[in-house]
Formats: sequence, C-alpha cells, structure tokens
Amino acid sequence: MLKLGNLRLDVPFFQAPLSGYSDRAMRVLAHKYGAPLTYTGVMLDKIALHRKAFDRLYSRPGADEGPVGAQILGSNPETMAVAAESFANIGFNLIDLNFACPAPKVLRRFSGGYLLKEPETAIRIFQYVRKSVSCPVTIKLRNGFDNSQESLDKFWQICQDAVAEGVDALIIHGRPVKNLYRDRSNWEIISEVKREFPQATIIGSGDLMDAETVVEHLKTSGLDGVIIARGAIGNPWIFREARALWEGRQKPEGPSLAEQGEVFLRHYELIAETRPMKKSVRYFRKFAVGYSRHHPQRKKVQADLIAARTRDELYAAVKEWYGVG
Ligand SMILES: Cc1cc2nc3c(=O)[nH]c(=O)nc-3n(C[C@H](O)[C@H](O)[C@H](O)COP(=O)(O)O)c2cc1C
Repeated sequence: MLKLGNLRLDVPFFQAPLSGYSDRAMRVLAHKYGAPLTYTGVMLDKIALHRKAFDRLYSRPGADEGPVGAQILGSNPETMAVAAESFANIGFNLIDLNFACPAPKVLRRFSGGYLLKEPETAIRIFQYVRKSVSCPVTIKLRNGFDNSQESLDKFWQICQDAVAEGVDALIIHGRPVKNLYRDRSNWEIISEVKREFPQATIIGSGDLMDAETVVEHLKTSGLDGVIIARGAIGNPWIFREARALWEGRQKPEGPSLAEQGEVFLRHYELIAETRPMKKSVRYFRKFAVGYSRHHPQRKKVQADLIAARTRDELYAAVKEWYGVG
C-alpha cells in the first residue's frame, strides 16, 4: 500500500508524467491494465489565469481514468497556487509540482529544473500551493541542476525543506537537469534521500523499462514506490505484469497479437475523440512505434503503421498485422 496524503494506492508504482504522451487516452489504458494512479504531462500554470482557455482545454478526468494527478509548471508562487486550485476544483485528485523539466525554453523562464537552483522559491511555491488545495501535493524533481557540489547541496536543501513543510511525496528522477537522459539514473542517491528522511514518502524514477526492473527496484531500493515512464509508452501491459510480480504471482504471458491490435485501435480511437482525423493519425505515430515493439515482425509492422495517413489506412495495417479491426 502506498500512501500519498489521503490517496491510498494498492501497489507502490504508478504512471509518470509524460509530456506529449500521458493524455487521457494513455491514462485510460494504463488504468485499465492496473495503474492505480496516473499523472498528466506537465501543464503551464498561466493557463489557469485565462478562464475561457482553461475551461476549453481541461475538464474533470473521466471515471475510466481512475485517480489522476495534475502536474503544473511555473515560477510564480501565486500563479502556481491559482493553477493548483483550478485543477483540484475540476476533479484532479492530486497536484504535482514540476521542478525537473530540462527544456531550454522552460529553464529560460526560471521554471521546471531551473527551480533546483533556487530552493527558497521552490519551497515558497510549495507553501502557496499547499495552502490553496486540500488534495495531496507532490514534487517531481531531479537530483540537482548539474553535477556540482553546490547543486547537490541545493537538492538536499529542497528535500529537507519540502519534507519539513509536509510534502506528500518527493518523486526523484536520478539524473541532474543538465544530464538530460545521459548516463543511468542514480538510484543510490534516491535511496539516500529515503534513509535521510525515513518519515517521508520517497518515490524513484529512471530506467524502469520492464516489469522485472520495476519490482527489482521496489525490493532493493528501500523506497516507498516508483513511477513508470518510458516503459509504459505503447506498453500498458507493464502495469498488469508489474502487479502480478509484485503480488508474488507469475508474470502473465505477453499480450496476444489480437489483444495488441485491439488496444492499439482503442488507443487511437480515444485520441480521435479530441482531434481531427489526420491530426490524430499523425499524433498517434509515436505510440504506434511503442506498440509495434511487441510484434515479432516489429520493423515491418512499424513501417506500415507509420506510413498510414488516414484512419482507414491505419485500420488496414492493423488488420494485416494483428488480424483485428
Ligand atoms: C517523452 C517524455 C516526456 C516527459 N514528460 C515529463 C513531464 O511532463 N513531467 C515530468 O516531470 N517528467 C517528464 N518526463 C520524465 C519522466 O517522468 C521520467 O522521470 C523519466 O523519463 C525517467 O524515467 P524512465 O527512464 O523510466 O523513462 C518525461 C520523459 C519523457 C521520455
């Protein structure tokens, strides 16, 4: 059981925030296959200041998504608090603060990973947000801005202050912002945070690409939980598999071709609910790449799926390779 404020998760892993991926469609499928919680991709706090745009873009997560955390990004404590309140009011179950994003345009606006350089601002943001909502508030951060000692000291400062202020969980990706995705995630330092603050809920992130690795890290890291990120793209089955292994059962057989094809089309149709046909086919390509990895003829399947320009062409490719649709 993983406790995040008033939320109780029956398994200690959930779906990470994934900008450009973890929209409603991906969340519905993650929930269906056993993710006890999912996060949105990062959302700009300022949108909440524009009521009409906010109402047009965001609505209450559907019951078929299960609990959903809204991740927000910004640099101003007041605006972050308004955004947190807006997302909580429309029914998101948790607010997560992004102190991790390495995108240059985000860093230039003193947001995301930049806040690891400014522990006082980061904690002020947390305090304002905490006061503005009654749902759990978590922080997603990396283990520093760069590899310097100064940066490491600031990382520890943020962890210490956030724990003292009652953060519901620290979710730590073990690569400094400057490292982007180079090297392996440093799980040792994430475990060290847990040892230093045993009373806090500490969740790890990085390189969990299959169910075995998820469960191995859960068993060996001493952490309260982990999040699954790239390992869930085109692979909602990872939640079913990790759940089985975690509960001491055998890992289920991988999905049959028919199941793969059905989930593939379901994912596409969920995306098509909110986008015009051509855009939805184009947007879906990155997921198609993930799904095709499960197929024994991966390369050919991928080429055909990516070549599809219309819904009919996509369905024809799925019929040919998966026998459904
Ligand atoms: C395409 C992509 C989008 C991401 N978007 C976000 C995001 O919006 N917010 C966030 O905090 N982390 C984001 N991340 C980081 C992941 O949540 C995760 O911490 C990171 O990928 C490490 O886990 P992994 O190695 O298991 O993928 C993103 C990562 C990827 C690959």
